[in-house]
Amino acid sequence: MSALTIPAARRTLNNAPIIDAANGKTPTRTPVWFMRQAGRSLPEYKKVREGISMLDSCFMPELLAEITLQPVRRHDVDAAILFSDIVVPLRAAGVGVEIVAGRGPVLDAPVRSREDVLNLPVLEGNVPEVEQGIGIILDELSDSQALIGFAGAPFTLASYLVEGGPSKNHEKTKAMMHGDPETWHALMARLVPTIVNSLKSQIDAGIDAVQLFDSWAGFLTERDYTEFVLPYSTEILEEVGKYQLPRIHFGVGTGELLGAMSKAGSEVMGVDWRVPLDKAAERIAAVSGPKVLQGNLDPALLFAGRAPLTKEIERIKAEAQTAIDAGHATGHIFNLGHGVLPNTVAEDITEAVSIIHS
Ligand code: CP3
Repeated sequence: MSALTIPAARRTLNNAPIIDAANGKTPTRTPVWFMRQAGRSLPEYKKVREGISMLDSCFMPELLAEITLQPVRRHDVDAAILFSDIVVPLRAAGVGVEIVAGRGPVLDAPVRSREDVLNLPVLEGNVPEVEQGIGIILDELSDSQALIGFAGAPFTLASYLVEGGPSKNHEKTKAMMHGDPETWHALMARLVPTIVNSLKSQIDAGIDAVQLFDSWAGFLTERDYTEFVLPYSTEILEEVGKYQLPRIHFGVGTGELLGAMSKAGSEVMGVDWRVPLDKAAERIAAVSGPKVLQGNLDPALLFAGRAPLTKEIERIKAEAQTAIDAGHATGHIFNLGHGVLPNTVAEDITEAVSIIHS
């Protein structure tokens, strides 16, 4: 343990499969959770969210705890993912942002100039409503079920800020990156403390692992990722590393970036569904040595029926084993290769979890 290490006052987990796998130990069963398991597809979610806006619900401790726990009660997954959003730390800092149903985060005013960047609010402290919600969640989870906290990575957050909302091609973001690199670097540097403070707040409240979502990093070339993004994601993961909890790093369509992203310093690399796990592991191990893999069932397969689903799950488990046997990976956490799709039937998620566990 280095002098910098600050072990947080976390609860003690007992053979939690996800944490064991993340630490390179053999879990009691194949651990599984699904990105976007909370919210969206569950009828009990739609019921409790009625009449409450998405972002308001993220600041209501009892409600965010209830929504976080719903999929754990229903599906027997090995972890809860905190019900929140990547823009919650921005809203908590005072940025004008809403989540528009069917679209995603939309900003009152985009961040385009040097002045906009200097005026962007920074989250200085904790987020008390989220911390209270985490307390309620931990009271209900068993000591083998982990609670995963998360944040959006600076590139993905910057994309929403610069574009002013969801973007197909991220053209304004890339224009700033290449046309005004000083402003770009200033924006990235300004986002780091907001993200770090949001994660520290979740860690203080007792989360068991963190995931850094760089959802849109796959739109970048490896060269641009390395120059314009990697230093900032590295800084965030380094700060979080002082607390000694497993760190997961994930982005969509990042097959070409796995090596570069692995340098940011997580224990676990989330793998998008487009890349076979054994190939992904080779790319990661070649740059950073073997890490734990997370992934990577295509979320569309949850619509395919039991036989094809079982076949795909077996293929993915076999590819993870191949990677481990080759010394290219040190473990596997089962997940989707991106989030649960909105129309997914809840019972099909439960069935997938039971196939993965068997
Ligand atoms: O189940 C979970 O994954 C936990 C909660 C969670 C949400 N957002 C809740 C949410 C998590 C981890 C996120 C992260 C998030 N938010 C990401 C990164 C992960 C990813 O999916 O790539 C991104 C890019 C966002 C931004 C965002 N928020 C988008 C693109 C959307 C979808 C808009 C839509 O309606 O299609 C949201 C809204 C959102 N975040 C919903 C939920 C449950 C849906 C809102 C609703 O139910 O009204």
